[in-house]
Amino acid sequence: MFILGIESSCDETAASVVEASREGVLTVRSDVVASQVETHRLWGGVVPELAGRAHAEAISNVTRQALAEADVPLSALSCIAVTNRPGLIGALLVGVNFAKGLALSRGIPLVPVDHVHAHIAAASLLPDPPKPPYLAFAVSGGHTTLFRVDSPTDYTELGATRDDAAGEAFDKVGRVIGLPYPAGAAMDRLASEGDPAAFRFPSPAVPGRGFDLSFSGLKTAALNAVNSARQRGEEVSPADLAASFTAAAVGGLAERAREALRETGVRTVVLAGGVAANTHLRAAFETLCRESGARLCLPPPSLCGDNGAMAAAEGYFQFSAGVRADETLNACAN
Ligand code: KG4
Ligand code: ZN
Repeated sequence: MFILGIESSCDETAASVVEASREGVLTVRSDVVASQVETHRLWGGVVPELAGRAHAEAISNVTRQALAEADVPLSALSCIAVTNRPGLIGALLVGVNFAKGLALSRGIPLVPVDHVHAHIAAASLLPDPPKPPYLAFAVSGGHTTLFRVDSPTDYTELGATRDDAAGEAFDKVGRVIGLPYPAGAAMDRLASEGDPAAFRFPSPAVPGRGFDLSFSGLKTAALNAVNSARQRGEEVSPADLAASFTAAAVGGLAERAREALRETGVRTVVLAGGVAANTHLRAAFETLCRESGARLCLPPPSLCGDNGAMAAAEGYFQFSAGVRADETLNACAN
């Protein structure tokens, strides 16, 4: 069967066709992403109204291209999966209404998907997908949440950030040292050249908070280091700042995963979301899983950022569980 996945929750308009075999093996047949970062970069962050307009301009062509590259006609689709929560409301509504129109006009089943679960479903597109139960850490620009997953449709939240998401903190710290939005990838490269012990920053794994995290203390400490140096007429080394910030962020995420492995006895970890592309985070989770005797499932960087294939994969699981939406489907910001 073929699933069309449509994603427009933030600043990427994306569509993909995923093929599911009878045995449930998922294969990406096409994966088209139209990024709006150039538009938002001018403003230093995502401007919701511009995002909605750009999605409306791009969505038909992105979908047409995904179907053409997959060589799959609309009539061959078993369902259309669309991200309807959480995200920017004006951005989500574009994808939801487009998918609804397409599904209703062609009589194709419509399946709503959760964006955070879809990030984790990207791991099911790996040649050797994770088998439940597994721990799944979704680390993105909008979310930092640790789940226990007992089946692809059975998620239990173990912990989450109480304030900023990890990616948001990467972007804000990068901005103060002059990196363009989104700063995550540039921070990753800079961190490789700096001294992770140059600054002592607080861990986001604050003791006594269960599996929850807090990135605002770390972000504020990094911003203060830059600003107090400037008050003295000095500049911090951007590489040292990036390296020290990254070490604290990665250390806190790995610590929560280590505790969850210990407490649950689960032996597989999925790392997903835009920040899962971070080379230092990937290396830390590889070390952690090796030391803990756990298996690590890491989507390739192309499936970490927002994409349509992850929506299609999550849509496959929801469709298989009998989930369907009708013409009343709406979008939900959170
Ligand atoms: O998952 P995503 O594409 O969108 C959301 O659902 O939020 O994540 C985007 C976030 C941005 O904050 C971006 O800076 C961050 O992921 N990011 C990274 C890296 N690549 C993207 N953060 C750290 N290191 C990276 N290599
Ligand atoms: Zn995302």
